[in-house]
Amino acid sequence: MRYFINDLSKYVGEQVELKGWVYNSRASKKIKFLQLRDGTGTLQCIFFKGECDESAFEKFNDLTQETSLKVTGVVREQPNKPGVFELGASNFEVIGSSVDYPITPKEHGIDFLMNHRHLWLRSKKQHAAIKVRAKLVTAIRDFFDGRGFTLTDAPIFTPNACEGTTDLFETKYFDEKAYLSQSGQLYMEATSAAFGKSYCFGPTFRAEKSKTRRHLIEFWMVEPEVAFNDIYDNMDLAEQFVEYIIQRTLKECPDELKTLERDITKLSVIKAPFPRIHYKEAVEIIKKENSDFVDGEDFGGADETILSSKHEKPVFIHHFPAAIKAFYMKEDEENPKYSMSCDLLATEGYGEIIGGGQREDSLEKLLSKINEHELSPDDFSWYTDLRKYGGHPSAGFGLGLERTVAWVCGLSHVRETIPFPRMYGRQYP
Ligand code: 4AD
Ligand code: MG
Repeated sequence: MRYFINDLSKYVGEQVELKGWVYNSRASKKIKFLQLRDGTGTLQCIFFKGECDESAFEKFNDLTQETSLKVTGVVREQPNKPGVFELGASNFEVIGSSVDYPITPKEHGIDFLMNHRHLWLRSKKQHAAIKVRAKLVTAIRDFFDGRGFTLTDAPIFTPNACEGTTDLFETKYFDEKAYLSQSGQLYMEATSAAFGKSYCFGPTFRAEKSKTRRHLIEFWMVEPEVAFNDIYDNMDLAEQFVEYIIQRTLKECPDELKTLERDITKLSVIKAPFPRIHYKEAVEIIKKENSDFVDGEDFGGADETILSSKHEKPVFIHHFPAAIKAFYMKEDEENPKYSMSCDLLATEGYGEIIGGGQREDSLEKLLSKINEHELSPDDFSWYTDLRKYGGHPSAGFGLGLERTVAWVCGLSHVRETIPFPRMYGRQYP
């Protein structure tokens, strides 16, 4: 039978065998303490001279950080800490040695840590952030699965560009060219016409030559799409969704958030509705603090921070200029200079976590946009079919998982939000 540290409350008073790694150890003449890490938790194992195996007591001092081992003993509750367990250890056996483990309690530079990402993941804060990520993924799936959405994952190889051609990853597809997906959205428009409400959730790729704290080359995006929704339905859905995943993570990851020293009061207020600001109004707000900002342009990170600093909740910015948005955005019929787009900016300067909007449902306008953006109408003929055969309003959005993890965990860089980040200039390990 396998026992795991996070499960030991069931086995108080029983003899168990645990397998894990040395997290820490300290010894005195009569008593030796081992912090055992098994991935599900860490456990204090106490070896008392005279009570444990004599040779185990002798060998204890040879244990080095991250040696893997098997420890046997009896589970007990710590005397002054109800709910905290320890092991009255009787013996241990080394499974794999660990000589000169590179990550020590001293400070290491970020490059060193990134080069040792495969080991760094064992450290407490890294472990906590990836646990939060995993919980967010479950919450994301539960939200959509519980609301009648059908999971319809999009292909990774695509013949068409969704989010502009500048950051496409090109690859060979036998005798043809293909691109790695930048977004599953266009496919979700097809599947939402088949299923009503659909979503995809997977890796997306953008060859962005920028080294910022918000950009990864490979990142995960969840993209819901709802047939007949307009931009306002879309914002309603997005705010309910963000409230759900944040509140659920707060409830289910208290230990991880504590390890990460996250100020959770900043997250507990994340409840719908969220403020909604038209692009025009956002420009006025930004100009008061950044006189260089040019009306009609996209926001920089600092501009987003100006906007979000006014609110304790995330804020929607909607109706961005059509000129800075993708070809598929519906134009604002009241003022075609603007588009029916909406982004959500997270709090505390974490910036854009959601991009989305209402799709252009006029075949004629869509075709002229495809031309304007110098895209090939042939590559998109399947997409324009969606307008030909029972066309309809449609809206959806994409939430970037890593930026959301960074926000929830209070991490300053997305590189710590995914097990093995792919960044500009780094694809090792
Ligand atoms: O705003 P974006 O480009 O929107 C789309 O791709 C739409 N097609 C989605 C849709 O409507 N179905 O990207 C959506 C989100 C951003 O808000 C951001 O959170 C994340 O994806 N994102 C990135 N995250 C990490 N690294 C990058 N390079 C990212 N680019 C976008
Ligand atoms: Mg965007």
